[in-house]
Amino acid sequence: MEQKIRIRLLNDIDRSYNTVIGRNILNKIGNCIKSLNIGRDIFIITDRKVGRLYGQKLIKSLQSAGFSDIGQFRLDDGEPSKTVDTYIRILEKIHDFDKNQEKKIVIVTLGGGVVEDLGGFAASTYRRGVSYVQIPTTLLGQVDCGLGGKVGVNLKEGKNLVGGFWQPKLACMDLAVLKTLDARELKSGLAEVIKYGVIKDSNLFKYVEEHLEQILHCDFICLKHIILTCVKIKAKITEIDERDEKDIRIILNFGHTIGHAIEAASHYRVYKHGEAISIGMLCAGEIACRLSLLSNKAFSRLDNLIGRSGLPTKITKCSLRNIMKSMRHDKKFVNGANRFVLPVKIGKVKIVKDIDENLIKDVIRKRIVK
Ligand code: GLY
Repeated sequence: MEQKIRIRLLNDIDRSYNTVIGRNILNKIGNCIKSLNIGRDIFIITDRKVGRLYGQKLIKSLQSAGFSDIGQFRLDDGEPSKTVDTYIRILEKIHDFDKNQEKKIVIVTLGGGVVEDLGGFAASTYRRGVSYVQIPTTLLGQVDCGLGGKVGVNLKEGKNLVGGFWQPKLACMDLAVLKTLDARELKSGLAEVIKYGVIKDSNLFKYVEEHLEQILHCDFICLKHIILTCVKIKAKITEIDERDEKDIRIILNFGHTIGHAIEAASHYRVYKHGEAISIGMLCAGEIACRLSLLSNKAFSRLDNLIGRSGLPTKITKCSLRNIMKSMRHDKKFVNGANRFVLPVKIGKVKIVKDIDENLIKDVIRKRIVK
């Protein structure tokens, strides 16, 4: 049975939209898009792997619903593709598809976080913005970047440094596509689920502790439970702080300040996003302990769960110097002063400003393996 969660954007019924969570939604997506009445020409943005696995299924569903003009762009898999260069190639391909500019284009993003962020950014800027529908196909995409409207690309200096906010007309989380995720990708998504547990929901954290084996074996009941829980949390946060201006949405960045810096310092080629975030969460947790904000017992639970999940806890292939350099580009820094999301217990975080750089360096240095 499908579940719908509506993202009700404050004072803006027009931009509010549904997130649909269930199994085999891809088969019905054509009719879902048709019923929105947002356009007749579809441009799919996907990557090579997902395109190979699910591209035809999506096209078949769109054609059965009467969409006959369908274009597509397939990017190379992985974070190194999330560049300004790929973004421009996507825009050129959409423009080609839209030769006479007579089309009413709907962009459909089918893929993981990279496709969602890049595709959404293309949708937000092509002809000053066109409608788009998100179909995230990874656990990470379904619990985090596949909803909420943050879109963008990386610069070599830092992650997501170019981008904006552009809400989709619909987000579809098809649980069936998760069965083809490789174990590393599934675990990377699980890191974001653990994040939600720490920032907002101790029951979710406990659920992951108790059902870890089932989750890692892709048990659909467990996956549905964790995805639904995370989507509900993200929906609430997006509703009240859509544009990350009120110190509310920022809590979704727990583990991301150091995590993003590790990704950038290793040129987006060593760690998957969730893997870097795991290390970032442990560093943030340790900073919180050293500042007497978090108990050692709570930190041990986090450390244990990340370890048991098979997520990395150590940093390889990047230097402290490069991590610190990348971290200074973090968007959370204000006037050069750092801002960290730190846990005070499992299920609650607080924002702490101006943490001593020596403390930050110390917790990172301890995790670097030469
Ligand atoms: N992934 C962080 C956010 O959506 O705000």
